[in-house]
Amino acid sequence: MKSFGSKPWMLPQPVLIIGTYDSEGRPNAMNAAWGGTWDMKEIVISMGSHATTDNLAVNSEFTVAFATRETMVASDFVGIVSAKNDPDKMTKTGWTAEKAPNVNAPLFTCFPMTMECRITRKIDEEKTGYCLVADVVNILCDERYLAEDGNPDVEKMQVITYDPVHHTYIELGHTVGNAFHDGAQLK
Ligand SMILES: Cc1cc2nc3c(=O)[nH]c(=O)nc-3n(C[C@H](O)[C@H](O)[C@H](O)COP(=O)(O)O)c2cc1C
Repeated sequence: MKSFGSKPWMLPQPVLIIGTYDSEGRPNAMNAAWGGTWDMKEIVISMGSHATTDNLAVNSEFTVAFATRETMVASDFVGIVSAKNDPDKMTKTGWTAEKAPNVNAPLFTCFPMTMECRITRKIDEEKTGYCLVADVVNILCDERYLAEDGNPDVEKMQVITYDPVHHTYIELGHTVGNAFHDGAQLK
């Protein structure tokens, strides 16, 4: 086994697209891979100092969409260009934004699944950023990505994950088993 020391290498990492409104109600988006589940109804995201951070200081509501193969190029773009430097950032993505139904934040319609969120806590807040904990107020899923049982079909979505080792995006594969079930054969 080769050792690599301490690295921020969680596998897999999500590709979260955070949608916020600026103080004039214009939509913005940024990419965040350092985030995940905090509790049953809460998520956690490591936030640096961005235009998104400024937007969240005024309005604590935001959306989180899961990036897909189809949205990959623009999802990376919103992770390397700041609205602080490019006022045309969102026009360049080609994404259409509607107001999310339950929070004051934009819903980008090209994503199969989006969470509507509200910040509840900011941990270790410093000038350089903080760790946000947010309630998941609601989850929206485009009907085209529902399974026969009426729930979101993750396999259909072509969701991508971030590979922190080689800085690439990897598309999720196929279902290989049933959780809380297949292990039972070894009982
Ligand atoms: C793959 C990827 C992952 C990223 N993950 C995070 C993250 O977890 N937290 C963060 O604060 N910034 C992260 N960023 C950086 C922001 O997305 C980037 O600074 C963005 O331009 C901020 O946009 P804004 O200033 O318009 O809000 C990531 C960028 C990329 C490309």
